[in-house]
Amino acid sequence: MHSVWVDADPGFDDWLALLLLAQAAPQVQISGVSVVAGNAPLGVVLNNTLALRQLHQWTWPVYAGASKPLVAQPIDAGYVLGPSGMRTTGAELPKPDPTAKAQPAHAVSALLDWLCAPAAPGRRSLLATGPLTNIAGAIQQHRAAFEGLSEIVLMGGSTDRGNHTPAAEFNIAADPEAAAVVFSSGVPVRMVGLNVCRQVLLHAADVQRLQALMKPSTAGQMLVGYLDGYQRIRSAEGDLPMPLYDPVAALALLQPALFNWQMAPVDVELQGQFTRGMTVVDLRNRAGRPIAVRVAVGVDGSAVLAVVLQSIAAVAQPS
Ligand code: BDR
Ligand code: CA
Repeated sequence: MHSVWVDADPGFDDWLALLLLAQAAPQVQISGVSVVAGNAPLGVVLNNTLALRQLHQWTWPVYAGASKPLVAQPIDAGYVLGPSGMRTTGAELPKPDPTAKAQPAHAVSALLDWLCAPAAPGRRSLLATGPLTNIAGAIQQHRAAFEGLSEIVLMGGSTDRGNHTPAAEFNIAADPEAAAVVFSSGVPVRMVGLNVCRQVLLHAADVQRLQALMKPSTAGQMLVGYLDGYQRIRSAEGDLPMPLYDPVAALALLQPALFNWQMAPVDVELQGQFTRGMTVVDLRNRAGRPIAVRVAVGVDGSAVLAVVLQSIAAVAQPS
């Protein structure tokens, strides 16, 4: 059994990452989902998480985490994803039952409890698809708890350019100090950045095929509306393919052999006027620094896209 804790800010592509992990059951089990402010303020992404859980009749516990970064001013992705963090021109995500609630424990203490629980046989991994505030908070509180963890697989950063700014990827830009804590912690990390995610491109025809398979049908309509919304924001003519982010990291956790990896020290720029939040990936490591970060440096985008689509379609089918 491979137990996975997910820390996320749902978010359409956080949703696709959860779908991708769900298809791997029963070999992979989601032990808990902690939520962090990112794509939208905490209350909004928490609500989205509860609504997605209900939509797919998932049963994992949900924990609310950080509502703001460790030290930075909060930002969100409302300028792209709208106030709900899940802008779609198709079906809206149905509202969760008013009785649906997060667990009373804070995300950081719940994550630490999970890490400290007697190890069941098998691997334990953490998938992070939002800003790293909760995870950094847990490392700061109790670094030793991470000794039993196989690895943190995170969607964030880039070996080249950013998206939130020319230099910085959104999840790192949203809490650069937290990212610096995680990358320098010595906990084994796999970094899945924009440099590989931008090679995994979803086209309108893929979404149409998925829509026909996804259950419940609302899920397929939401996805169609997501791509449509993305294309409208960019005022694109025709089929503008959309890069996939968080599900690519979920796949890297399940099937790392689909990617090329290189060990490299990763620093986070905390000062730069134009580069704050940039991941500085030292692929040559001339200084011989000790390294705990495996950076995804290569991927066959169409092969990965095919596996992502197959997985999402598989979980979407009624059993
Ligand atoms: C990341 O930022 C968020 O908007 C997405 O959910 C993804 O995790 C991509 O930069
Ligand atoms: Ca995300």
